[in-house]
Amino acid sequence: MSPTSTRPGTGETSEVGGLGDAGGLYEALRRILADRYTCRQFRPDPVPRATIERLLALAQRTPSWCNTQPWHVHLTEGAATEDLRARLLAHVHAGGPTAPDFPFPAQYTGAYRERRRECGFQLYDSLGISKGDVDRTVRQMLRNFELFDAPHVAIITTEADLGVYGAVDCGLYLNTFLLAAQSLGLAAAPQAALASYSDFLHAHLGIPADRRVVAGVSFGYPDPDHPVNGFRTTREQPGNAVTWHTGSVDAATATA
Ligand SMILES: Cc1cc2nc3c(=O)[nH]c(=O)nc-3n(C[C@H](O)[C@H](O)[C@H](O)COP(=O)(O)O)c2cc1C
Repeated sequence: MSPTSTRPGTGETSEVGGLGDAGGLYEALRRILADRYTCRQFRPDPVPRATIERLLALAQRTPSWCNTQPWHVHLTEGAATEDLRARLLAHVHAGGPTAPDFPFPAQYTGAYRERRRECGFQLYDSLGISKGDVDRTVRQMLRNFELFDAPHVAIITTEADLGVYGAVDCGLYLNTFLLAAQSLGLAAAPQAALASYSDFLHAHLGIPADRRVVAGVSFGYPDPDHPVNGFRTTREQPGNAVTWHTGSVDAATATA
């Protein structure tokens, strides 16, 4: 017999063993995860404040170490988005130096390099940009700083003193934010590219020196017909991301 649990607040019991779908939650989450993708062309329509507040309320449920909730988000709408877009782009075009608050990866090797290349090719293929077309490749890269025409951007920051685990908590927040956006009919683009100009963001948005920029998220309504939104990235087989350990270490040693 499958174990059952009582869902807090409901008094309902649901099957939690086997392959049971706990009250439809598995299927709902599966769909949100399957449908979400990084949107790189938005429609200009602003998202109503009430919808953004629902999104933020869901994201706020993110767990964090010691429940520190180290995230603080700088969020733009209307003229503030246009201002940030224009000034950031001007900063980039003027050759403003990249200065991320957290160091970017030094290199991508092996499977990481391959996966990075694959999603890069998918992106450029979707736009008909051929390998070696530096001008169009750079042009598309710069779309990051145009926020892919999104009406809103969220800059996620963490408390400097909380170090790597504060950043981990903010990564969890970022994911909840993306899934919450999907659940509300919105689309989003997580962007480390924005964090590469952390110094600009500190100055422009008044982000205090004791906070670190983790990532930006452009969001709004997707342009579903734009080719850049037409491809989906792959994932490794889940089993290849897991090493199972069964039985005691002593037993394994005994039979070795
Ligand atoms: C922390 C983080 C930073 C990212 N930075 C960028 C970025 O700067 N520009 C971009 O176009 N996509 C960026 N992405 C999107 C990834 O390329 C994308 O999530 C990945 O290729 C998987 O594709 P999917 O989101 O469509 O499933 C970022 C994603 C994450 C999680």
